[in-house]
Amino acid sequence: MAISDAISINHLSKTFADIRAVDDVSFAVRKGEIYGFMGHNGAGKTTTIRMLLGLLKPTGGAASVLGHDIVGQSLAVRQLCGFLPGSYALPKDLTPLSFLRYVGAMFGLSGKGLDLRIDALLEQFELGAVRHKRLGQFSTGMSQKVGLAQALINDPQVLLLDEPTAGLDPIGRHDFLEFIRTLARDRGVTVLFSTHILTDIERICERVAILHRGKLVASGELGTLKAQYHADGMDDLYLTLARAAA
Ligand SMILES: Nc1ncnc2c1ncn2[C@@H]1O[C@H](COP(=O)(O)OP(=O)(O)OP(=O)(O)O)[C@@H](O)[C@H]1O
Ligand SMILES: [Mg+2]
Repeated sequence: MAISDAISINHLSKTFADIRAVDDVSFAVRKGEIYGFMGHNGAGKTTTIRMLLGLLKPTGGAASVLGHDIVGQSLAVRQLCGFLPGSYALPKDLTPLSFLRYVGAMFGLSGKGLDLRIDALLEQFELGAVRHKRLGQFSTGMSQKVGLAQALINDPQVLLLDEPTAGLDPIGRHDFLEFIRTLARDRGVTVLFSTHILTDIERICERVAILHRGKLVASGELGTLKAQYHADGMDDLYLTLARAAA
């Protein structure tokens, strides 16, 4: 692992019964970069992210986050990471305030420090006026802001985003991507950005890993990959790779 790597994944595998959900995958994400993690439905993106967070145990290989082994030091990894799951239902009866207090408590945060952190996040995501509104009444875009706020409650150095723009309208998507870009640029946060939306990747990522049926079919600089495949655009590259691996 290079000292400049925030996430290092080496021959990582996860098998469920007879399904090779993640199959001998290796790639590294440098500190401070927004790294695209692409693949169709069932490619193994979520399984990889869940392994990084210690929520699933690998069946082979290894990985580390900021030098901490994901199996032996998963608590340290979780303290350093923020996580926005792809699909999760916010607790309908909580408000942004009570939900963020709950998530903060899980990180061992409390008191004035936590309240100040929550105030800053609510302001940042323009949720101040609805801080006491029940989450069950929130639109997709508002829910996503609450989701991102909870992922940032512990001031993470690494952010794992699992298909974060799904369901957002064009303005919501634009604002979300700009926010992520700012976070990486101004605060040096490392972002692993899982998606199957090519335009999102092209907008904010310079490097990508592409999974197909659990296997890594390409990784590296987006520009280099495009040139290598002499494709008109990323769509063609992606389809070529997916078909080649099928
Ligand atoms: N808990 C589980 N038990 C059995 N199989 C699973 C489990 N979790 C995932 N899988 C299988 O592992 C494979 C990879 O799934 P995963 O959710 O990681 O893909 P993904 O790339 O996140 O897909 P999507 O874009 O649909 O979210 C799929 O074949 C899925 O059915
Ligand atoms: Mg997924």
